Amino acid sequence: MSHYKTMISQHSAEHLFQGPIAEEYQMLALICPSAAEMSRRVGSFVGEWTPPYPVEQLQVLEIGCGTGVTTTCLLAGREDIFIESVDNAPAMLAQARQNLAEALAAERLRLVENDALSHLLTLPDASVDIVASAYSLHNFLHGYRQRVLEQIWRVLKPGGLFVNGDRYAIDDAAEHLKNTQQEVGGYFRVFNELNRPDLLEQWIVHLFSDESEEHIMRLRPALETMTAIGFQNVKLHFRDGVNALVGAVKP
Ligand SMILES: C[S@@+](CC[C@H](N)C(=O)[O-])C[C@H]1O[C@@H](n2cnc3c(N)ncnc32)[C@H](O)[C@@H]1O
Repeated sequence: MSHYKTMISQHSAEHLFQGPIAEEYQMLALICPSAAEMSRRVGSFVGEWTPPYPVEQLQVLEIGCGTGVTTTCLLAGREDIFIESVDNAPAMLAQARQNLAEALAAERLRLVENDALSHLLTLPDASVDIVASAYSLHNFLHGYRQRVLEQIWRVLKPGGLFVNGDRYAIDDAAEHLKNTQQEVGGYFRVFNELNRPDLLEQWIVHLFSDESEEHIMRLRPALETMTAIGFQNVKLHFRDGVNALVGAVKP
């Protein structure tokens, strides 16, 4: 019975972004300055990508748009895209609607409130040119992430691109632990200075979730999983601590 419950939970979406951590999500820029840099990298990567087939407007699916930090970079990266961004946190999407009002009005973007897997399951095979994401997949439970990756592969057109700028744990456990301890020190410094013990608690609790056995997304196994699903050219393009840019194509 407990095994059955574990199997179910491993494949479920979670709601980790609510309350102060979502309402004051801009704090991430203080505790993880690399995140904003990674969003720019995801935007540039998509901007510089040449599809291997003729296409007038690229259909992009963004997984976990949050408040729209990476969406903004994707929109800035190239003109010839239409983005559908999915997120399951109403508090994050409320900010995205404001931050991305111009693109919404220009009909360059559609926001979808749903969990990533449920939304992917509604999309036809080979209907998307690019799937892009930043700092969302590491939040997923292993079984759920596996199914999301399989669905990303299914919805991509042959030749389509998957790019993910995310928190990929360092494969060397000792090095990863050292990195995490430094991160925790940074959280204390930032939130003590702001006198925000409430946010310190929330972000530490969140980090425990990211680091837990059911969630932790280590780089090497993550790349192997993508290859096993059928992605080609699975590559690490950039790494700064746990922040990594991974790209792959569907053959
Ligand atoms: C750390 S934030 C990153 C937001 C944004 N991509 C960025 O670069 O700032 C992760 C986002 O993924 C969303 N998320 C987490 N699990 C999800 C799921 N199962 N389905 C859809 N969105 C999810 C959260 O609500 C949150 O907005």
